[in-house]
This record gives sequence, C-alpha cells and structure tokens, in this order.
Amino acid sequence: MSVTDLLAQLAPIGLTAGGGYRRFTWTPEYAGLRQWFLYQAEARQLQVVKDANANLWAYMGDPEGAEIVAVGSHLDSVPDGGAFDGPLGIASAFAALDLLAQRGLRPQRPIAVVAFTEEEGARFGVACLGSRLLAGAIDPERARALTDAKGVSLKEAMLEAGEDPSRLGADPSLLARLDTYVELHIEQGRGLIDLGQPVAIGSEIWPHGRWRIDFPGTADHAGTTRMRDRDDPMARFAATVVRVFDAAQSDSTRATFGRIEVTPNSTNAIPSLVTAWLDARAATDGALESVVASAGSDVTMTAESVTRRVEFDPDLRDRLAGLLGGVPQLPTAAGHDAGVLSEAGVSSAMLFVRNPTGVSHSPAEHANAEDCIAGTESLARVLTDLGGFH
Ligand code: HGY
Ligand code: MN
Ligand code: MN
Repeated sequence: MSVTDLLAQLAPIGLTAGGGYRRFTWTPEYAGLRQWFLYQAEARQLQVVKDANANLWAYMGDPEGAEIVAVGSHLDSVPDGGAFDGPLGIASAFAALDLLAQRGLRPQRPIAVVAFTEEEGARFGVACLGSRLLAGAIDPERARALTDAKGVSLKEAMLEAGEDPSRLGADPSLLARLDTYVELHIEQGRGLIDLGQPVAIGSEIWPHGRWRIDFPGTADHAGTTRMRDRDDPMARFAATVVRVFDAAQSDSTRATFGRIEVTPNSTNAIPSLVTAWLDARAATDGALESVVASAGSDVTMTAESVTRRVEFDPDLRDRLAGLLGGVPQLPTAAGHDAGVLSEAGVSSAMLFVRNPTGVSHSPAEHANAEDCIAGTESLARVLTDLGGFH
C-alpha cells in the first residue's frame, strides 16, 4: 500500500474541527491509532511485540534476533498538530516494506517497524517518554507519577487503557539487539524547500529542553488592591518572557513559552501562582545555557527534560548519503526518538521529507504526496542495504 493511502487511513483519527490533531497518549484516539498499527502489522504477517514501555514493535523475522534494523517514529501529536509529524515515519516504514515485498526481496536481518509512545510529551510533559524509558534515560517511578493537565498520572492513564505501568523501565537487552534505527520525518523547517530537494539526511539535533518556571505571588482582589500594594506574579512572568526573548534573538537560538497555568485563573483575582514552561533550543550547548540563564537567578526553574546536542552516527550518515546519491544533510532543532536512541548508543539516522512551508506543530503542516513517496523510496533503498534484503 502506498504511504499516501496509509496516511489517508489515519487522517480521520483525532482530527479536530479546526483541522488539527489531538492524538494524546492513552486516550481513545490513541487506541485507534495503535489499532491501525496492529492491523497494518497483521496484514503484512509481522509479529507485534509490545515492549515494557508499551512501545509497539512489528517484526519481520525473529523478535529475539540480534542486529535488528528498526524504522519508525511516533503516533501521538501536539494539541492541534499536523497529520505528518510522527505518522509519516510509520506509514512510510510499512509502505517501504511493501515496496520490497513487491520486488520479491526478503531481509537477512530482523526488521522492525516501531511506534514509540508519548514522543511529543503533549499529555505528560516529558518528550520522547517511550524511548527515554527504553533507554533508561528517565526513572520509571518519575514517569509513572507524571500527570496530565487534569492531574491524571501516567500510571492511572495506562491502567485505564488496559496497559501495565509496572513494567516501565530500561530494556538494555532490546537496546543491545538493535543494530540501527532510521526515522523518516517531515522536515520541520524550510531547508529542503529552499534547496529544491525532496529528501535530506539528518546530521544533528540541536541541544534543547523544557524548563518549568514557578512565579509565586499573593492572591488579592483585582479591584480593591492598589497597584503599588500588589505582589502580582503575572508582572514578573511578563518581565521574564521579555528578558528571555531578548536573549534568544538570533537564528541559532529559540525560546518559546507555549504553555502557562494561572492559579486561581480568575479574571478578577490577582494570581497566587503563575507557572510557565520554557522550551529553549540552540545550536550549541553554551548558547542554550545562556538563553536559559537569562530567565534570571531569582526564579524557580525545574528542568523537565533536557537533551544535549546529538550528532547522528557519521559512518551511518555517509552510508546513507552513498545510497541516496548525495542528498543534502540538514540539522534540526526538533527533538526525536532517533536522538534518544543515538544517545543510548544505537546507531541512528533520520531522513527528512520536504515541507513546502516549513510549518509544523500546526494544522497547516503539510508534505506533498510525491515527496512522501520519494521519502518512502529512499527509506526502502536504505532498508535494502541495512537489512540485507535480497
Ligand atoms: O518538540 C519537538 O522538538 C518534537 O516535535 N517532539
Ligand atoms: Mn513534533
Ligand atoms: Mn515528531
């Protein structure tokens, strides 16, 4: 089946009236996406194994084998996200296997299509949660206790979805059996459209992270409290935003306050607390540190997930470049499970598919059918070599 047909099957799941997607981990929409994954695996006689962290692995060959070549991405989205961020990597993986089957080719190594859970961290706040748990990069107890906006813990949400949160944790034996992981992803930027090319190889992931900042204040009446008598946290939050944005005003740094919680969140009450999340990214670790430090030493900051700069395996990158005829290599400031696996010692690579506008994490995210097909063809070529298809 073509990658576009597979994406069309997913299109209605989690679609909102505004045209974006709300595909949050362990919700009914997410169950529908995982059901689709299981159906695609069954239709290709792939054996599905759910690992200790509920990541789904669809195997062609021995699930207990060594030197597994894995391809995949994630099914969850940010609120009002696009149709391609994540699902394109999984749909293209199944479509690439179909291309190889149509050519009568079989692998000499175990191949796996993988769907990592909670990559966006949109519900429980930590990005790449499924791959971080697999890699032992986050404590399972901390993960189980993560809560969503309604205070529902990951543990409770998993139990409600019929999953077993007690198994969460590192799986070094699975990691050791992974030879290579390749993630195809819509480009979240304008590199390819400016280069006029459909596909690129990922060279690196910028260092980036998420910091929770708490601004305590003194609740009081909006009408009867004189401005000079106020202990208003919103004013301090606003000043911090201006300070951080000023510090991040370069093309090699990013700062975003996309999420804020106000207590008690009432129009006519001065807040007792403002909590805001800073998403900061930069081309270098040093630049990232200075953007974060610009928030000031007088604020209470908690690092929720921080990822150092990831340079993808240069030998693998060169091998892919040789296979794909010198397609461009581009960095990204977006985090991915491929970055977490790379940090965990798994030889990992990314393929990017052209995004005509560069827009992502928005209903406007889009990739043209011919570029998705070109990306799938590139993934099939890479799989042929890495998986020893013949
Ligand atoms: O936020 C990111 O960089 C990715 O989309 N999870
Ligand atoms: Mn994303
Ligand atoms: Mn993604």
